[in-house]
Amino acid sequence: MNANQNMNLNRNQVRNGGGRTFKFKPLVSFLTVFSFLLLAFSGVILYLRPEGSLARWVGWKAIGLDKSGWETVHNTFCLVFIIVGFIHLILNLKAIVIYLTAGIDRTRKNLAELVVAALLIFILLVSAVWRIPPVSWLMEGRSHFKNNPAGLLVKPPATDFEKLPLRRALEQMGKTPERILRELEARGLRGLSLESSLEEIARCNSMSPQELYLLIRAY
Ligand code: HEM
Repeated sequence: MNANQNMNLNRNQVRNGGGRTFKFKPLVSFLTVFSFLLLAFSGVILYLRPEGSLARWVGWKAIGLDKSGWETVHNTFCLVFIIVGFIHLILNLKAIVIYLTAGIDRTRKNLAELVVAALLIFILLVSAVWRIPPVSWLMEGRSHFKNNPAGLLVKPPATDFEKLPLRRALEQMGKTPERILRELEARGLRGLSLESSLEEIARCNSMSPQELYLLIRAY
């Protein structure tokens, strides 16, 4: 091959992306990795999130997303992961079966590893079903984060208190609705109506229902 032919070949390779075509298999592999990473990350955040009503009460957020935002991320990538993971499995079935049966060098049987893995999974399953350690420790940790959100100053007077219309919330607090409405208007709060919920009014004013509650309680 002379120098001219060599240059032409190199030019064609650059034009064709270094001689490579866009391949489906690595695309699926990358999608599987990325969706798993997002799934695991959002899963950890979900582990740390407070229970629904308390999350709304303190206006809980992590990295700018609220509870339902993280649940949406987790559910979305759960679906993506199931789909691309399944395709990844099918595309690599032969290699996976060889790896799981004869090992990567095709010289050994993995019976001992198979038995130990099955045993570990079975022990964890029993521990999960009977709620005994170590799985019970995991669930105790979850309960802690569920019931003690960062930023909780005062517990809501009743479950889903933030969903009550302002009038009912004020009555339950022993306040006169019309007087408090005037006080809040004078303070410059927006979106005020006795029929709107504490949560809606708080959101309108970039505060949490808890902060609004504490403000009202001071009057
Ligand atoms: C990759 C590691 C994963 C981690 C760390 C993780 C963690 C979590 C946690 C902590 C929760 C909340 C449980 C609770 O409310 O107490 C959750 C919910 C959930 N997870 Fe995962 N998860 C993972 C993978 C998956 C996968 C692979 C799927 C689907 C195949 C999945 C589907 C779901 C669904 C549907 C929920 C309910 C979400 C909701 O409340 O709307 N997760 N996950």
